[in-house]
Amino acid sequence: LSALGGLAAGAAGGMGVARSGAAPAPAATGEGPTTVQLAEHQRRAFHGEHQLGIMDPPQAHGVWVAMDLVPGADVTTLQRLMRIWTQDIAQLMAGQAPYADFEPEMTATTASLTVTVGIGPRVLGLRGVTAPRPAWLGPLPAFPKIDRLEPHWSGGDLLLQICADSPITVSHAQWVLTKEARTIATVRWVQRGFRQGHGVTNPGETMRNLFGQVDGTVNPVRGQDDAVVWCGSSAPRWLQGGTTMVLRRIAMNLETWEEADPLTRDTSLGRRQTDGSPLTGRAETDAPDLAATNGLGLPVIDEFSHVRRAMPDAKGLADRFLRRPYNYDDPPAPGRLTNAGLLFVAYQAELEQFLAVQRRLAEADLLNTWTTPIGSAVFAIPRGCREGEVLAQDLWA
Ligand code: HEM
Repeated sequence: LSALGGLAAGAAGGMGVARSGAAPAPAATGEGPTTVQLAEHQRRAFHGEHQLGIMDPPQAHGVWVAMDLVPGADVTTLQRLMRIWTQDIAQLMAGQAPYADFEPEMTATTASLTVTVGIGPRVLGLRGVTAPRPAWLGPLPAFPKIDRLEPHWSGGDLLLQICADSPITVSHAQWVLTKEARTIATVRWVQRGFRQGHGVTNPGETMRNLFGQVDGTVNPVRGQDDAVVWCGSSAPRWLQGGTTMVLRRIAMNLETWEEADPLTRDTSLGRRQTDGSPLTGRAETDAPDLAATNGLGLPVIDEFSHVRRAMPDAKGLADRFLRRPYNYDDPPAPGRLTNAGLLFVAYQAELEQFLAVQRRLAEADLLNTWTTPIGSAVFAIPRGCREGEVLAQDLWA
């Protein structure tokens, strides 16, 4: 028995864990494992001004599911689905099993679950949907120098972004929410991603992508830069309090990256791979000094480095946005060793904020040598719900 106890403690990172709501595990004594009550911080509140899964801290695992509405779908179909999803997402996030959940035991582990619902272009053309379709809601403009888009990673009428600190929680929520939509919508594509495992690094530590780079240092901060992300009064009413989302699937060639020496890697980024510090600074959070030159009079941060090209040009919001990327690492094609990359998820009040940067990077970015966008989708993310409201209800209200 004690050997089994030891194994269980090891699997939970050295701590015996009791689920809140479940019977608490016996308190630790002596040298034995410490008992931790999984608490409120593993539940995020569904109801609120904005949908979650955006400015709140990214969880370790995520899946993005695009669905297409069945032919003949109209506003009634949409309302039906949104009512079911609203109720069931709220329940799943609270750790309560929805009606269609036949494995309620799995729902109790909320693991900071968030489900974010997005609206694709075709929904705005459904019979009975009165809200205007914004001109930007459609495929991104082509970036012929870099794009090698595969159609099966693009488009979609509806999006579910499901994130949690347990892959089991993600998978279960995906099953519940997609199966209850099955008479109304079909799955178009599914993309899975991961960040650093929950609890294995210090809180607030920036994740690394699969090139090994510290990725996510500079980002808008919740409560401080909200206007970067949330649509304001200049947006159509149904989008106010919501946001715009871009998901780019970007393949990262680990086989050629392996051939790049540390100097090449750091030059292409403008930051050091070792600790994420800018080439002109010492700490990860030091601001890059774009004016600094070396002994030859050349810029220390290369003109074509990723960071220089991606940094905001203008003051204000014009080219800032929130990045919430996840790594992917899928089975390689026959004869290949890897199939890895980034699910580059960007949120911004106006799509143009993202496009301004994407245009600069598509034009010239040393990192493009090793990266290739192979999927691209754009969704409108409606505002959050108050008690009694339905997700996306402004589309027909
Ligand atoms: C910064 C990696 C694609 C926009 C960074 C940083 C890394 C990185 C390591 C520096 C640390 C940080 O601030 O996060 C990558 C990789 C990509 C990729 C591996 C593709 C696989 C993109 C794309 C965009 C973008 C497609 C936008 C269209 C930015 C921005 C910054 C940044 C805005 C922060 C710049 C600043 O203000 O300092 N990226 N990135 N990145 N990246 Fe990327």
